[in-house]
Amino acid sequence: MVDIEQFNPRNEAALRAWWEVGHAATAHRPGAPWPVWEQSRVSLPAVNPEGEVTLLAAIDGREMVGAGLLMRPLRDNLHTATVDVYVRPDRTREGIGGRLVAELEVVAAGDGRTTLHGEAFLPPGASGTGPEAFATALGYEVASRESIRELTLADYLARRGALTDEVAAAGAYRVVTFDTVCPDAYAESFGRLLGMLLDEIPLGELDLRASEWTVERIRDAEQRQLGIGRHVLTALAIAEDGSVAGSSDVRVNDTDTTRGQVGITLVDPAHRGHRLGLALKLATHDLALATYAGIGTVDTSNAEVNTWMNAVNEALGYRTIETLLELQKKL
Ligand SMILES: CC(C)(COP(=O)(O)OP(=O)(O)OC[C@H]1O[C@@H](n2cnc3c(N)ncnc32)[C@H](O)[C@@H]1OP(=O)(O)O)[C@@H](O)C(=O)NCCC(=O)NCCS
Repeated sequence: MVDIEQFNPRNEAALRAWWEVGHAATAHRPGAPWPVWEQSRVSLPAVNPEGEVTLLAAIDGREMVGAGLLMRPLRDNLHTATVDVYVRPDRTREGIGGRLVAELEVVAAGDGRTTLHGEAFLPPGASGTGPEAFATALGYEVASRESIRELTLADYLARRGALTDEVAAAGAYRVVTFDTVCPDAYAESFGRLLGMLLDEIPLGELDLRASEWTVERIRDAEQRQLGIGRHVLTALAIAEDGSVAGSSDVRVNDTDTTRGQVGITLVDPAHRGHRLGLALKLATHDLALATYAGIGTVDTSNAEVNTWMNAVNEALGYRTIETLLELQKKL
């Protein structure tokens, strides 16, 4: 008899068992699909001004065999929630995953959330896999296809010299870099750019809406990152009038400085066509290498239809390691 129970992320023994389930369920995937324990231990119980986490456990006797996570955004897209489930590989096809999703949907609906999102990871270009069949069985549709790409920093260094010549067109812009905390002089203008994000990135059928980024919201999000030991190494392109024309970042956790993840990359439509995307990515990757000499890889994900961003990533040396399906269900 398997019970589905909610537990407090501050219950460290339960959190560790939950982490072990996710670790086992993702162990077959390439790259670093699951955070190291120290990261989950710190970040899941910490207050997050951007989103509220609910954790579920599927428990059989004294063992945790399934793990669920619901993330409810708190600052925008209040009609949505994100559902994640993991089942221990020796306990799949017993209905545990389906029960976890059903319970997460009850919690989401109870909070007025009407659009649910999820993710399924497949080998590049694959179709008809277990996670897809699972999603379909539970009524989730594919809203967008993305590629997960990984860059080996040795490959980056081999290409970097040739790429710096290409960014000459970005010369009219100044590039400013910082670790996590945006300088006051740019915070308001950076917020204006962030507010464009969801209107500007290809979302496929995903029901997500753009939202306002006040300086206060930026500062709150920065404090959260500092609190969980995550460094958001950011580059901003500054136009001649002092406004922020573009931004990109690479995130590195104190708990594993051998890996980075690209966060947000965005160039204001009014400033496109000057190779700013490439210039900003060179700046963040250089900063990551200068800060963490032992960094070996950086991951990123982009919609397959985002040809412009994909071309930049290919030029940098990124290679596709997985296909990511963005899933959606309207309740
Ligand atoms: C995907 C996952 C959560 C499924 O968990 P599960 O406990 O096996 O799921 P259920 O037993 O509740 O399956 C419900 C239905 O989904 C479908 N399904 C699930 N896994 C399937 C598979 N490997 N192949 C085909 N259909 C599958 C079936 O229709 C199944 O019903 P059935 O067994 O009566 O035919 C689990 O395999 C897992 O943890 N995978 C790794 C992490 C992951 O991919 N998470 C979810 C992404 S959407």
